[in-house]
Amino acid sequence: MGLCSTGDHIVAQRHIYSGTQLFLQGVCPRFGIDVTFVDATLPGELAGAVRPGRTVLVLAETPANPQLALTDLDELGAIGGPFTAVDSTFATPIVQRPHDHGVDVVLHSATKGIAGHNDATLGVITGAADVLDAVWSYSILHGACASPFDAMNGLRGIRTLPVRVERQSATALRLAEWFEGHPAVTSVRYPHLASHPQHQLAKRQMSYGGGILAVDLAGGRPAGQRFVESVRLARMAATLGGPETLVTSPANSTHVALSDTELEAAGIGPGLIRVSVGLEHVDDLTADFGRALG
Ligand SMILES: Cc1ncc(COP(=O)(O)O)c(C=O)c1O
Repeated sequence: MGLCSTGDHIVAQRHIYSGTQLFLQGVCPRFGIDVTFVDATLPGELAGAVRPGRTVLVLAETPANPQLALTDLDELGAIGGPFTAVDSTFATPIVQRPHDHGVDVVLHSATKGIAGHNDATLGVITGAADVLDAVWSYSILHGACASPFDAMNGLRGIRTLPVRVERQSATALRLAEWFEGHPAVTSVRYPHLASHPQHQLAKRQMSYGGGILAVDLAGGRPAGQRFVESVRLARMAATLGGPETLVTSPANSTHVALSDTELEAAGIGPGLIRVSVGLEHVDDLTADFGRALG
């Protein structure tokens, strides 16, 4: 809203955090801002949707919530003309550095890994001073403002960000491999797992695999519900990036209104479980998940 005006055009990726999608799909058109959604996992799709002279912003999210699809940051950064922006929440600045790839604006929900303790609601935007000035002036009018207590929690949390991300990534990779060998699981998505469809890209632009993985359960929607209700060490909650391992079943929570066909179109399997890996010992987590899957 700080950068775009009536008549402008935005290109955004189709698989994106649901709050962002609701904003782009529902709010932007009310202000006469046109949005084109593309599959950003396909080479050239973002650049191909740019309308010269009209497109003001190209927005990606990588890894994307919840299926961990990746966007090529070199390709995004090479788009000339509009501002390029990436929501890098799942990665945190420890896993990837989009500005190094030429991306203009980087966004984080610092509520997640950056503050890192599920006790703050914060956001981060980084970029050149002129872009940030435009966004900052609008955000003051809009009223988005970090509370002093949340800001203090964020500053305390960020001190341990590198060690938390390294440990969470190591545990997440071990868990991803463990889930892949379990008979109740049909597929696992984790960027640094060899079976990830964009594994080469993940290795190129992500120093670690990050703390989030997605697991598809063979039993579909009912299995997803049983699983999130059965875990004891992990907890069922919609946020991510904190010290406790959290699990969600999108088909039974955020996306409960969608039919199985609609879920499939959104790229979300009915049995999909998103796991935000915390700081517990990996053996305790596999014991908990093994029991819940059983
Ligand atoms: C990728 C991504 N971006 C943004 C947000 C929004 O975060 P907040 O609720 O802190 O505004 C979320 C929340 O889940 C997210 O997953």
